[in-house]
Amino acid sequence: MRDLVLKNRSYRRFYQEVDIKLETLKELVDLARLSASARNAQPFKYILSCEPRRNSLIFPHLAWARYIRGWPGPCERERPSAYIIILGDTEISRSFDCDHGIAAQSIMLGATEQGLGGCIIASIEKEGLRKSLEIPPRYEILLVLALGKPKETVVIEKVGDSGDIKYWRDSEGVHHVPKRPLDGIIIG
Ligand SMILES: Cc1cc2nc3c(=O)[nH]c(=O)nc-3n(C[C@H](O)[C@H](O)[C@H](O)COP(=O)(O)O)c2cc1C
Repeated sequence: MRDLVLKNRSYRRFYQEVDIKLETLKELVDLARLSASARNAQPFKYILSCEPRRNSLIFPHLAWARYIRGWPGPCERERPSAYIIILGDTEISRSFDCDHGIAAQSIMLGATEQGLGGCIIASIEKEGLRKSLEIPPRYEILLVLALGKPKETVVIEKVGDSGDIKYWRDSEGVHHVPKRPLDGIIIG
């Protein structure tokens, strides 16, 4: 479990030419389906995308790596091969608690286990995405999970004395993610 969690980093650059099959996306959603849900309401619906034309309708509505100044997100050829969009069905529930985070993590861990990787994205230009994919108003757009074969190295660092938690990219393109130390987060 620890190895899987360590490997399950946020990746934002991919071998775009490596396809992800629709069947694989369905298997990943099945992991979310089987996960915990407040009141067991299971209020989510999913949109799957794994072909270039549909992917190109999703990509422009996402914001990537806000701490990396001046980087507009992955270039063509390094973009995700697939997406899973998590929607809240407002006819089932009006509030989604933290369920979409749990669903997202199940999917990302499953993807990692399959040698894939990706990024949970909440910075979404929602009305644009809704129009592009003709998503009915009944569904609240909650998260977009970008998936692909990772093409970047991500390493974990310890948060330093400055307390700065911003991730950064070095001159070799390696992505560094500071994490707070264990003895700093257990307070009692
Ligand atoms: C709820 C949530 C929303 C996020 N939204 C974005 C996003 O909009 N864009 C992005 O590039 N990364 C996003 N991330 C990824 C975080 O930036 C990433 O988890 C963080 O930098 C730590 O890196 P790690 O996942 O490798 O531990 C999001 C992560 C979570 C959990």
